[in-house]
Amino acid sequence: MPALRDSLTLPAFSTTNRVFMAPMTRMRSAQPGDVPTDLMSEYYTQRAGAGLIVTEGSQISPQGKGYFATPGIHTDEQIAGWRRITDAVHDKGGKIALQLWHVGRVTHSVFQGGGPGVSASAVPFRGTTTIQGLDGELVTAPCPTPRALTVEELPGIVEDYRRATVNARSAGFDMVEIHGANGYLLQQFMSASSNQRDDEYGGSIDNRARFPLEVVDAVVDAWDAAHVGMRISPMIKFGGLDDSDGLEMGLHIASELNRRELGYLHLCEPDWADGPELDDDFRIKLREAFNGVIIAAGNYTATKSARVLDAGWADAIAFGRPFIANPDLPHRLFNDTPLNELRPELIYGGGATGYTDYPALTD
Ligand SMILES: Cc1cc2nc3c(=O)[nH]c(=O)nc-3n(C[C@H](O)[C@H](O)[C@H](O)COP(=O)(O)O)c2cc1C
Repeated sequence: MPALRDSLTLPAFSTTNRVFMAPMTRMRSAQPGDVPTDLMSEYYTQRAGAGLIVTEGSQISPQGKGYFATPGIHTDEQIAGWRRITDAVHDKGGKIALQLWHVGRVTHSVFQGGGPGVSASAVPFRGTTTIQGLDGELVTAPCPTPRALTVEELPGIVEDYRRATVNARSAGFDMVEIHGANGYLLQQFMSASSNQRDDEYGGSIDNRARFPLEVVDAVVDAWDAAHVGMRISPMIKFGGLDDSDGLEMGLHIASELNRRELGYLHLCEPDWADGPELDDDFRIKLREAFNGVIIAAGNYTATKSARVLDAGWADAIAFGRPFIANPDLPHRLFNDTPLNELRPELIYGGGATGYTDYPALTD
């Protein structure tokens, strides 16, 4: 039975263990310009003991931005900033994948030149995003009703994903991960609750999956299938989605990715964000649909990891919040030592406090 401490062979490279770091937005890029910083480099380098780090979501274009100070991968300065990070992680023996992000309707007019965001349909997201208030502090703000993308606009966004992939390669990443989860643009196309189109991009499962799969094909074309992973979150409630056929869509996407022999499938389980717990039946079907590397994430402990790895339903486990608070999480899990407590009020924005000041056991 594979264990968290075992190495794993992916199509593009091997990892030293199966404790991966889940993508987590921390809103600390340099402003203006959304440029990755030296502090971000320190944060990721502290966590280089992960089998694979998946970075925070990084916008593929200015339009893809939805929160204050998230980093981008569409300018030369951003590529140079990420390059310093990938070099530092590699120097520590780590591996790092960039998460490619377009938020769609989960945005604010301050990031969109005063206009609304874009989505599959003009269906509002009734939640909020995070912007900078007049006093410089972070505040939550409602998202405007998005504008439905025209068919003619879609190739431009596909091209943004392609260019972002080329940029990620030149920034030295080991892979890219397409963010198809958590209610952002690609899942807004997948979900019947946000996609009410009556053209070839709406209606049936095939049609709703069309745009996300066009993105996958462009990203694969810009690199190769082995260096591309995709994250999906069937049944997630995050982002205002309520998917009646989310599991079916998840299995459809998984089998399409299997056909394309993608580097991995990353399952973002819904129960960390008010969604239901995934049942084992879905895990079994997902394993049948995708026979490459599956990463599972969401509320994992050592015990839950062992159960899912033992059953063969996943090959690696991505940890989110535990990795924020424990830079040496793999070491702690392997040795069954206590974990630091997360300080949730310091997750987003700010500087080193609550970011790079969590102690490792060796400190
Ligand atoms: C602060 C925070 C930021 C997150 N940002 C992202 C993100 O940028 N991209 C993404 O796919 N998921 C994001 N997630 C979801 C995590 O990757 C992960 O799936 C979730 O935290 C559940 O794992 P955990 O229980 O180990 O924390 C975020 C979660 C948290 C807590």
